[in-house]
This record gives sequence, C-alpha cells and structure tokens, in this order.
Amino acid sequence: MPTVTPKTAGPDMSSPKTQILAALRRASWISGQALADAAGISRAAIWKHIHALRREGYTIQASSGRGYRLEHAPDHLSPEGVHAGLQTELLGRNLICRRSIDSTQNLAKSLGRQGAPEGTAVLAENQTQGRGRRGRSWASIPHGVAVSLILRPKTSPDKAPHFPLLAGTALARAVSRVCGIWPGLKWPNDLLISGRKVIGILAELEAEMDRISAIYLGIGLNINAEAEDIPPDLASVATSLRIQAGRKIDRLDLVRALLEELEAAYYAYRLQGFGPIREAWKEHNITLGRQVRISSGREIITGTAVDINEDGALRVRTEEQELVTVSAGDVQLCPAV
Ligand code: BTN
Repeated sequence: MPTVTPKTAGPDMSSPKTQILAALRRASWISGQALADAAGISRAAIWKHIHALRREGYTIQASSGRGYRLEHAPDHLSPEGVHAGLQTELLGRNLICRRSIDSTQNLAKSLGRQGAPEGTAVLAENQTQGRGRRGRSWASIPHGVAVSLILRPKTSPDKAPHFPLLAGTALARAVSRVCGIWPGLKWPNDLLISGRKVIGILAELEAEMDRISAIYLGIGLNINAEAEDIPPDLASVATSLRIQAGRKIDRLDLVRALLEELEAAYYAYRLQGFGPIREAWKEHNITLGRQVRISSGREIITGTAVDINEDGALRVRTEEQELVTVSAGDVQLCPAV
C-alpha cells in the first residue's frame, strides 16, 4: 500500500483565510504581497484576515521589513486550521468541527442521510455520548479528537469488514509519521502501544441488498492526555500518544496525516482491492502468532491467531487443532509464555 505522496489538489475549495494560514505555515517570514498572491486577494484584505486570525488565537508577528510570521497556532480544531496544508482531494474537504457534541457518528449519519458528499468529516474535541464497538460507550479522554468520516464505496455490503482494517493500517501510518512511534494493530481494529489502546475504530454500515450507501468510519484518538487525565477505570487499558511519544503532539498535524493516509489507503483499495491492505495490516499487527481469547456473542474461542483471510476475518487454530474463522468479536491477547 503506497504512503501518501502530496498530489496536486482537486478543486480548490480553500478560503483566503485557509490559504493565508497555509502560506504562513510554509515560510518562516512571508511578505504581505506574497500572502496576497497566495490567497488571491489584495494586500489591504490581508491585514483584515491577519486581525481575524489573531482574534481566533493565532499569534502572528508583523515586521515592516520582513512581513509576517506565524509564531503560535491555537490547538483547537477549526476547518481553517485543518485545511491549511491538507493534501487531500476527497477526505475532509467538507469539514465540520465542534468543541463538544453528543457523538460525531450521530452527526455524520444524519448528514449522510441528507446526502452529504463522500469524504465529509465531523471532528470534535469532546463527546458526551461517544459510542464504541459492540454497543459499548466510548469515553472522551481530555485533549483527544473524535472523527467521523462518510465513505460511499461502490461495492457490495459483504466487503464492509475490509474498511476497519483499511482504517487501522492508515492510522498506524499517520501516527508513525507525526509521532515517530508505531502502534500495533490488534484485530480487528484497535491500535495499541505498550499493550494499551491509543485509537479505537467503529465502522457502521448503511446498505441495500447489493450496494453500500454509506460507511461511517468513527475514530477515537487519545492524543495529548497526560497520565492524570486518564480516568482510573481506564488507566490499565488506555494510554495517549503524548505519554508514549514523550512529547506533546500537534493535533492538527495528526488530523491532517490521518485524512491523507486514509485517502491514500482508500484510493489504493479502490484500484487494487483488499490484497495490499491485508499485507500492510499483517505487517503491523500484534495479533497473529499470539494466544487469543475471543468473545463473539455468547461464544468464547481460544487458540492461536494464525492469519486473516481475504474477507478480513481472523483464522484461529484451536487447542483441538481445528481451524476456525471468526468474523467479529473482542480479542484478548493472552500473555506470552
Ligand atoms: C471502540 O470501541 O474501540 C471504537 C471506538 C470508536 C469511537 C469513535 S470516536 C468518533 C466516533 N464517534 C463515536 O461516538 N464513536 C466513534
């Protein structure tokens, strides 16, 4: 699966403010005229936008000889902040950012049902009723991000299980790009570091008999929480990228990398199918070769995880040497002996 290579963007939907931010981010100092050229507006209008950005929390230095310099960008999520420098043509181009929301999945679904375009992304800093897999709730750990994306793949509903694995591999790449650490993939779609979860993925499907109308890809990222921010009941199972990388992570950089890597993986899937995703998932997995205990509905399966098949299902060799295929469930990795 290819990593993302910056491409010439498709239709340019960036506002002047986004263009100004992107230009400020690229240069250490940039003249007013160069900003005006980048944004396609007059120099007088640049000054108005600089003021607006300062009111939003950006610290921008101005010097008569050198022009402008972005000293500090606020860490909160905004369409302008995410779009500045974003190298996608589909994912995140239509973008909604909220400080707090019940669940990004709920808003994405309601927008999707009203016909929102493929690639629409809903981002929130906090969720009051976040949803996890298998009917569980998902707690918002402070300083993280919740993301929901609308995908409309032209494929049949039986291919839906490919998407959480596709997302897992793309997210592992995004984390390694921005944070310099590789999370391990636990089947089907948890990203763990040091045995604790940093990212959870929930894929929900809306389909007719033979075609998918939408996949809502929900991603919960534990980014900048410090140890004391993690609720005690989650401390043994959850961690954050900041704790693991040993430094604060730029959330906007991570969101951009997430959208870019997901788009690259999605395009590769549309061209080449699940094969390359399956290989990439296997490369970064921490499940295969391990003793596992899987609860799927009322059944518990124990054995050694040996492979994932072309449907993304897990193949497990039981203690009775029987090879079973598990298409959904919660995997517990047993301690290595
Ligand atoms: C899991 O159980 O591991 C999956 C958690 C998925 C949480 C994300 S956060 C963004 C989106 N909105 C939700 O309500 N849930 C998903």
